[in-house]
Formats: sequence, C-alpha cells, structure tokens
Amino acid sequence: MAKQILYKHFVLLAAFFFFIHSLLVLASLIDTTSRQARDFKCIEKERQALLHFKSYIYQDPMGFLSTWTQYEKREEATSDCCEWSGVTCNNQTGHVTTLDLYGGYLEGKISPSLVNLTYLSHLDLSFNHFYGPIPMFIGSMTQLRHLDLQGSYFNGNIPMFNGSMTHLRYLDLRDNELTGNIPIFIGSITQLRYLGLGLNYFHGPIPMELGNLTKLQQLYLYSLSNCTIKNLNWLSHLSHLKGLYMDGISLAKANNWVNVILGLKKLSFLSLSECDLSQVMNPYSYSSFNSSSTSSSIVCLYLIHNNLNSSMYHWLFPLTSNKLEWLYLHNNKLDGIPKFLGNLCSLTLLSITKNSLSIKFYNLLANLSSGCTSIALEGLFVSHNQLTGSVSNNIQKFSSLKYLFLDNNQLNETISEIVWRLPKVQELDVSSNFLKSFISEYVGETKILRLYLSNNSFEGTPSNIHMSDLSNIQEINISSCKLGPHFPNWILKLKNLTHLNIANNRISYTFSIHFWNMWFSQFIDIDLSSNNFSGSIPNVSSGLQRLDLSHNKFYGQISFLCQITYGSLYFLDLSNNSFIGEIPDCLWHFKELQVLNLGHNKFSGRLPISIGYLISLEVLQLDNNNFSGELPLSLQNCTRLTFLELGVNKFSGYVPVWIGERYIGNVGLCGLPLTKYCPGDKELEAPIIGQNEGGGEGIDELDRLFLIGGASGFATGFWMVCCGLHVNWHGRNEFFRFLDNVKDWVYIKVTLFIARQQRAPWV
Ligand SMILES: *[C@@H]1O[C@H](CO)[C@@H](O)[C@H](O)[C@H]1NC(C)=O
Ligand SMILES: *[C@@H]1O[C@H](CO)[C@@H](O)[C@H](O)[C@H]1NC(C)=O
Ligand SMILES: *[C@@H]1O[C@H](CO)[C@@H](O)[C@H](O)[C@H]1NC(C)=O
Ligand SMILES: *[C@@H]1O[C@H](CO)[C@@H](O)[C@H](O)[C@H]1NC(C)=O
Ligand SMILES: *[C@@H]1O[C@H](CO)[C@@H](O)[C@H](O)[C@H]1NC(C)=O
Ligand SMILES: *[C@@H]1O[C@H](CO)[C@@H](O)[C@H](O)[C@H]1NC(C)=O
Ligand SMILES: *[C@@H]1O[C@H](CO)[C@@H](O)[C@H](O)[C@H]1NC(C)=O
Ligand SMILES: *[C@@H]1O[C@H](CO)[C@@H](O)[C@H](O)[C@H]1NC(C)=O
Ligand SMILES: *[C@@H]1O[C@H](CO)[C@@H](O)[C@H](O)[C@H]1NC(C)=O
Ligand SMILES: *[C@@H]1O[C@H](CO)[C@@H](O)[C@H](O)[C@H]1NC(C)=O
Ligand SMILES: *[C@@H]1O[C@H](CO)[C@@H](O)[C@H](O)[C@H]1NC(C)=O
Repeated sequence: MAKQILYKHFVLLAAFFFFIHSLLVLASLIDTTSRQARDFKCIEKERQALLHFKSYIYQDPMGFLSTWTQYEKREEATSDCCEWSGVTCNNQTGHVTTLDLYGGYLEGKISPSLVNLTYLSHLDLSFNHFYGPIPMFIGSMTQLRHLDLQGSYFNGNIPMFNGSMTHLRYLDLRDNELTGNIPIFIGSITQLRYLGLGLNYFHGPIPMELGNLTKLQQLYLYSLSNCTIKNLNWLSHLSHLKGLYMDGISLAKANNWVNVILGLKKLSFLSLSECDLSQVMNPYSYSSFNSSSTSSSIVCLYLIHNNLNSSMYHWLFPLTSNKLEWLYLHNNKLDGIPKFLGNLCSLTLLSITKNSLSIKFYNLLANLSSGCTSIALEGLFVSHNQLTGSVSNNIQKFSSLKYLFLDNNQLNETISEIVWRLPKVQELDVSSNFLKSFISEYVGETKILRLYLSNNSFEGTPSNIHMSDLSNIQEINISSCKLGPHFPNWILKLKNLTHLNIANNRISYTFSIHFWNMWFSQFIDIDLSSNNFSGSIPNVSSGLQRLDLSHNKFYGQISFLCQITYGSLYFLDLSNNSFIGEIPDCLWHFKELQVLNLGHNKFSGRLPISIGYLISLEVLQLDNNNFSGELPLSLQNCTRLTFLELGVNKFSGYVPVWIGERYIGNVGLCGLPLTKYCPGDKELEAPIIGQNEGGGEGIDELDRLFLIGGASGFATGFWMVCCGLHVNWHGRNEFFRFLDNVKDWVYIKVTLFIARQQRAPWV
C-alpha cells in the first residue's frame, strides 16, 4: 500500500514537475536561439549517436526531441546537435557533455549508441517511460567480470567500450520502466557523484560494486522492492555520501547497518522507510565504535513503516545528534519516548504518528523537554496513539511550536490555557479524543489560525468566551462535540473565521438574516450538517466554496444560490431538509461544482437545461423529491459525472442512452440500463447497475490530500524550512535540482498528511 502511495505520488507530481520543466525548457530554447553563432558544429560521431538514440524512442508526445533532426528542415531545427533541446556541448571542444531529458514523457528503449558520447558527464533520463534493461553502454568494460545478457535486446556482437563514459558524473534513470538486474558495471563509472535508479522495475541483488563509486554524493535506490540486499558493507566506501534513499528495499539481512551508516561522516539525509528494519538481528554493535567516533551528521532521518518497537531506541541513539532536524518514526510500534530525544537542540520536526504510545501526554512532554529539544521544535505529530491525560502545562517550554497534532488519542482531561498562548502556535488538532472542555472564559490572545476539536465532548464549554482572544482563528472544526441544544454564540464573533464545521452537535436554532449576511459574506466553507437548524435562507450574496446544510430542518426556496459568486462553489449538499421549489436557472454560475446533493427534499419541476453548465460535476443526487419531466439533453455536457442518483421522483421518458452504465434508480424512468422496462418493452431480466460507484470510494488517501488546498498550503510553508538547508540557490540549474529534491521530500510530507485525512470532506 505504502509503495503504491509512493509511486502514485510520484505520478501525480510528475505532471506538476513536467509543467515546471516545460517552462524551463522553453526558457532554455529561447536561450539557445539567441546565442551567438559559433564557429564549430557538433561532432559528427556524437550527432549520429544522438540520432540513433532518438530512433529508439517511438513516443514523444510533447515533441521534446523535435529539434533533433538530420537536416535543417524547419526554421527551429538545426543539424548542429549542440543546439538541440536537452543537449549541451563543451564550448571549447564541441563534445556533448550534458543530455538532460528529464520528465519528457519519452517512451522507448535506451540506445547503446550513447556510448559514443565519450565526454558525457551528465545524463538525466529520469521521469520518462524508458523500458528494457539498462544497456551495456555505461561504464568502461575493463572491470567487467560478469556479463548477464538475459532479457537484453542485443542481437549480434556485444560492443566492447574500453574506457568509455569515464567522464560521467551524474546519472539519473529514476522513474522509468527499466527492468533486469542493476548492472554491476555501473560500479565502474568511478567519477559518479549522483546516481538515481529508484522507481524502476529492477530485480535481483543491489550490486556491491556500487561501493566502488567512492565519489558518490547522492544515491537513490528507493522503490526497488524486487531488489535484495545482503549487507551494506559496500556502502562504507562511499565516504562522500550526503543523501541515501533506500525506501522499500528489505534490509532484513543487513546486520550492523547502523555502524555502516555511522561511518558515513557526511551523510545528512537518510531515508529507510519500509525496509523491514525490525527484522535485522543485530542492527548495531557498540564494540566496533567508541564514543568519540559515533557522532552522526544526519539532518533528516526517515524510518517510517518499519514495525519497530521501543527496542530500536538503543540504535537510534547513536544516529541522533545536534544536527538532526527532522525525525520521522511514523507508523511503527513505539510505546514510549526516551529522554535522549529531549537533547536534540536542532530538532524542528518529530513525527511519531500511528504508533503505540500509551503514556500520559505530560510524560511525553517531560521527556522531550528534558534538554534543549523543546526550544527548537516546531512540529510535534503524535496523532493515532493512546496518549492519555490532558494537553498539559508543560507545553509551555515549547516556545517554537507551530503545529501540534494530537488527534485520535485517549486524552480525557483538559486543554491547558497555555497552549493558546504559545508564541508561535498556528495549528492545533485534538480531534477524536475524550477531552472535556476546550477553553475557559478568558484565555488571552492566541495566535492559533486553525483549530480542530471535533469528536470530543465539550458539554461544559462556556458560551461566553472573551472574543478578542480567539480573533485570529480562520478555521475551526468543532463537529461531533455535543454542543447543543444551544447555538454557541461566541463562534459568530470570530472576526477572521472563514471555515466553520459545527456538524453533528444536536443544535436547535433558527438563524436570523443578520446571521446569514455575516456568514455568507465572510465564509468560504460552512458545514452545519446533522443538527436541528431551521428557517429559510435569504437572498444574500456570498463567495462560498463549500456549503453543507444537509440533515437539518431548513425550508423555503433556494434562490440564494444565484447570489453565490460565479465559479466559486465546488461542493453543495442541501439533502435531507424541507426545501421546496425548482432548481434556480442560474447554474451557469457553477462550472467548478463537483458535488451537488439535493436529495430528500421537496423540490419540484423540471431539471433546468442550464445543468449542462456544470462541467465539473462528479456527483449529482436528486433522489426523493418531486422532480418531473424528462432529463434535459444538456446533462450530457456533464462528462465527469460518475454518480447519478435520481430515484423516487416523477421523472418520465426514456433514460437517455448516453447515461449508459451509470447508476440510476428512479421510479418514473424506464428502459435500459434500469431494471424497469418502458411500456411495450419486452420483459427481460436486466442487472441492477452498480452500487456506490462514486461518493468517495474511488478517491484514495493521496488524491484526497491533493484535493485539500489547505494541506498543501501548510506543507509548503512549513517544509521549506528544512528543504532550504539543502539547497544552494545558484541559478537555474540549482533551482531545477531544488525541484528535484522537492519530489523526494514531498512523499514524506504526503505520508504525514495522511494523518489529516480525517477532516477531509470526502471521508
Ligand atoms: C565556456 O564555458 C565556460 C565554462 O563552462 C564558461 O565559463 C565560459 O564563459 C564559456 N565561454 C563562452 C564563450 O560561452
Ligand atoms: C559509435 O560510433 C561508431 C563510429 O561512428 C560506430 O561505428 C558505432 O556503431 C557506434 N556505436 C554505437 C553503439 O552506436
Ligand atoms: C569493485 O568492487 C568489488 C566488490 O566490492 C571489489 O572486489 C573490487 O576490488 C572493486 N574494484 C575497485 C577497482 O575498487
Ligand atoms: C521488539 O523488537 C525486537 C526486534 O525487532 C524483538 O526482538 C523484541 O522481541 C520486540 N519486543 C517486544 C516487546 O515486542
Ligand atoms: C576510538 O576513537 C579514536 C579517535 O577517533 C581512535 O583513534 C581509536 O582507534 C578508536 N578506538 C576503537 C577501538 O575504535
Ligand atoms: C483518564 O484516563 C486515565 C486512564 O484511562 C484514568 O486513569 C483517568 O482517571 C482518566 N481521567 C479522567 C479525568 O477521566
Ligand atoms: C471519535 O473518537 C473516538 C475516540 O477517539 C474514536 O474511536 C472514533 O472513531 C471517533 N469517531 C470519528 C467519527 O472520528
Ligand atoms: C428540533 O427543534 C425543534 C424546534 O425548532 C424542537 O421542537 C425539536 O424538539 C428539536 N428536535 C431535536 C431532536 O432536538
Ligand atoms: C429571492 O429572490 C427571488 C427572486 O430573485 C424571489 O423570488 C424570492 O422570493 C427571494 N427569496 C427570499 C427568501 O427573499
Ligand atoms: C433525514 O435523516 C434522518 C436521519 O439522518 C432520517 O431519519 C430521516 O428519515 C431523513 N429525512 C428524510 C426526509 O429523508
Ligand atoms: C453543452 O455543450 C455544448 C457543446 O459543448 C454547448 O454548445 C451547449 O451550449 C452546452 N449546453 C449547455 C446547457 O451548457
């Protein structure tokens, strides 16, 4: 599952990065064409090699290689290969030095002709669809001791390339469909600084010969789950290694791997998620290390999803130091927190989400604040554990804390007022606990912007809260908190509130026009569902993006819809109320609308033809009303519709053919694909079509994350902090690499934010 997520994530991001890449390519094209004419043309042998390389590519949907031509056919085409997109030559010698086809959606095999690019130092074919084995073009063959041609596509002689490609420093083949073994001759490209092989379909052992790449700084071997590793001793030769990514490869046999890692004095980024680390018999032996040599330089450490219990702390200890900034222990079986985690003076982010912590939150904080950790920590993520007690006073020491995620624990007491007054705090999530009260009357001004309190029992919460205290809050979710039957008036005084979820609180209330005026002018997202609200909704204008009034007792017409700003609304659920009248004919406002649920009301009349403007619509539920007439033909404009519910209405006429296989259950309608036949039709057994085809089933965790704008906003703001440490901003190429790094850390981000999915409206 996690692998799948990982992969899927890369696919999603690929689109985005491709976009960025296209911009950069465009920029470089403009750059090239404006370059002064030079004296030389590219070297013929290399030009032929590139053309041969191109001849192996049969899909180039973006026309990436359109400038690569034999003859000067078109204006932008040139036979000088140094001018071709993705190609860079040495400006003195004319030799091709860089071939960068990153993210080009190219499909085909990698031609062995690349071997004739003798002076190539940078080869980036990542994020394409190259398939087949890595051809025998890379690396000098002088050190070849074993040659495996199984599955190779060579027919005829195997070329011998003595000493070729000796200049290659950068080789990135990530995210292709390459198969076969990882060839051992990669170990002879001894100048390599960067090697990316992750996200391919390689199998077999990771060759120990990689240990010959003593100048390597970045090694990406993640998501090669069919590859095996016996030990990591070969790694100890890579003394310049700064980043190592081996997620998804089992290290179950890699005894002493911690010692090997500790020997890598420059390693700052280590990602070993989903590596079966709990199965390693002896991860670490003290004997081979003395205290002076155990200082680790790791800045970011990811050990997600390894089934680790608290016995891992004995080897985690030497891996941590005052350089550590991010520590990810998400998805393991840890049941406590050791004191040494309190002595990491640079730690800004700690995630122990989805573990087995069954201690008092107070004790967790006490251990974390035993030293300097509490001063720097910005994000503490301990959702989905069994923490008990209250959000206690000793949170005070965490003066840098911005994000505190404690949802889905067993906290059963109170939230200390000190939390509100933490100087940097922005986001607090204590959803799904057993907290009794969340705030007292006067707490002092808080900087909190987003507050998630849902699924607790705040029966005792005062209805009078000193409002200037909470005036920064922009988003509040206080659903399922047993607030009713009275409406908590203080909520209306939150001047900056834009997102409110107060669903499922048994509140009985009728709003005055004043309420609606205020809410609709200020709010972006309102969820009042599953209460006992009543009244009609006046014609006030709004910029709402999401409105859920379902399961209440609202009545009257819904002409207020026509007052909603053009293009803003994407979610509207008015189901299970007593609304009447026709659907207003202003649906052209809603080209972004994805979900429209008007089911279980008293609507009547025909569907307006303007329903054809809802081009983003995916879910349409009109069931249990009094709609009548034929379905308008324009409904076929809603091409994204996957869930259509029309049952229990008075629609008439044939179901239009174009509705096809989609789910329909309606009394008045007849004909295939329904079970009911139109008068005169032959009685036939027909299958009942589908059950719940849409409605969230098909949206997986990851998509959901990308649908929630807020998550990414939070993410970018926060995660840049660490990323910034690893980036030197030296012009375009560095920016490019920066984006490349982003791809790697975003998956961590995604893993983390899965914890937030509970609050997604789709769940
Ligand atoms: C040639 O390349 C070198 C280094 O790549 C660069 O410093 C120099 O400015 C270039 N010269 C010209 C004329 O482009
Ligand atoms: C490399 O170039 C030589 C001479 O141009 C040619 O004969 C040979 O076939 C090329 N090698 C490959 C693998 O294309
Ligand atoms: C390359 O690696 C192999 C296996 O680790 C080793 O036996 C060999 O000596 C290395 N070659 C060089 C030149 O370092
Ligand atoms: C914790 O994990 C280690 C090795 O992974 C195992 O030997 C030990 O039995 C585990 N302890 C508990 C209490 O499960
Ligand atoms: C302990 O560390 C010192 C300094 O790094 C080193 O000289 C010594 O050989 C080490 N001892 C052992 C047993 O590794
Ligand atoms: C909270 O839960 C703990 C452990 O279950 C229990 O000992 C304690 O009494 C509870 N506190 C309250 C206020 O219910
Ligand atoms: C509400 O919280 C309880 C206790 O943490 C949890 O078991 C339950 O699943 C939560 N319900 C929802 C809808 O999140
Ligand atoms: C809902 O509100 C009405 C008054 O508007 C009240 O009579 C009724 O008892 C409430 N129902 C519930 C379940 O609270
Ligand atoms: C809203 O405006 C429409 C006409 O645009 C009118 O028919 C309707 O009665 C108004 N509704 C309310 C509640 O004022
Ligand atoms: C509205 O929902 C409640 C439960 O959520 C259900 O009992 C009731 O029948 C529904 N009302 C209508 C009109 O469907
Ligand atoms: C439906 O789409 C067609 C063509 O895409 C367009 O001409 C027509 O106006 C649309 N109808 C509605 C009601 O939007």
